[in-house]
Amino acid sequence: MKRLAVLTSGGDAPGMNAALRAAVRIGVSRGFEMFGVRDGYTGLIAGRFDRLGPRDVGGIIGRGGTVLGTTRCAELKTDAGQAAAIQQMRNHDIAGLIVIGGNGSQAGAFALSRRGFPVVGVASTIDNDLAGSDITIGAMTAVDIALEAIDRLRVTAASHKRVFLVEVMGRDSGHLALVVGIAGGAEAIVIPEAHADPESVAEEVLAAYQRGKSHAIVVVAEGAKYNAEGLARHFREHQQRLGFELRVSTLGHIQRGGSPGVFDRMIATLLGAAAVEYLEGGRHGVLLGIVDGKVAPTALSAVVNAKKSLDDRLVSLSSSLAQ
Ligand code: F6P
Repeated sequence: MKRLAVLTSGGDAPGMNAALRAAVRIGVSRGFEMFGVRDGYTGLIAGRFDRLGPRDVGGIIGRGGTVLGTTRCAELKTDAGQAAAIQQMRNHDIAGLIVIGGNGSQAGAFALSRRGFPVVGVASTIDNDLAGSDITIGAMTAVDIALEAIDRLRVTAASHKRVFLVEVMGRDSGHLALVVGIAGGAEAIVIPEAHADPESVAEEVLAAYQRGKSHAIVVVAEGAKYNAEGLARHFREHQQRLGFELRVSTLGHIQRGGSPGVFDRMIATLLGAAAVEYLEGGRHGVLLGIVDGKVAPTALSAVVNAKKSLDDRLVSLSSSLAQ
């Protein structure tokens, strides 16, 4: 019986467990022996494989995080680490690997695939910044968590007529911040892709007050040149001149920890199942993502060399919507 292994890697994302569950159950139904790899690529290099049956993945579809554990593994970037990972899979008679994760994880998947091992990636990161998928597992749940926080912050911001800087995750990109900002009705959105110095953000806030608003929410991506801390420092230094009272709220890892919503459970299930079917059909070296509402493959070589661009329409709408 052929054996397939599944690992989760990089930052955890709500829905990873749903993808694992689907891969295991569909894999077993197609006659594969399924294995989970503990703790991402670190566990792969160390040979930590556990056989998983349908019952072992019971009750996890609604659980955030990853029951397999995850790491950021520097060793997999080395020749020796990649060779050791492949050797472990050969020793355990694994015929194919499914990698559930974001950019760093798919770079690892590409490295193993380039060495001739059958690998299929599944697009999963709250950052939603992976080329080859319009939307990644975990992103929508992370947006919902941020929105709940923003709705609460708006209540207290309005009571006190304050400005709130709300920093959301997104190390290198503003995908998450853009959606959170628009859906949260932010007065300004600060993202790494569009340079905004503190004075221009202050002007947007002041303009909002001049238009009659009593308070303002500024959504800031953590990867922006001026993150919440940088903006706050400037605003505090110039508080007398600017005249608004400021508070900062950094959401951080809270956004990663939630139970996946329906959308993430569904795409994770579709992608996890499809990953098994691709390996079964001898198709590998691809990332499976959601493109135009459907599961679609993109060569891992293309994924690792591309930067996913922001939705232009959302960018252009965002400033007018703040009126
Ligand atoms: O998984 C992506 C991400 O959540 C980024 O948004 C964030 O910058 C990073 O991971 C944080 O990583 P860590 O959990 O290792 O601190």
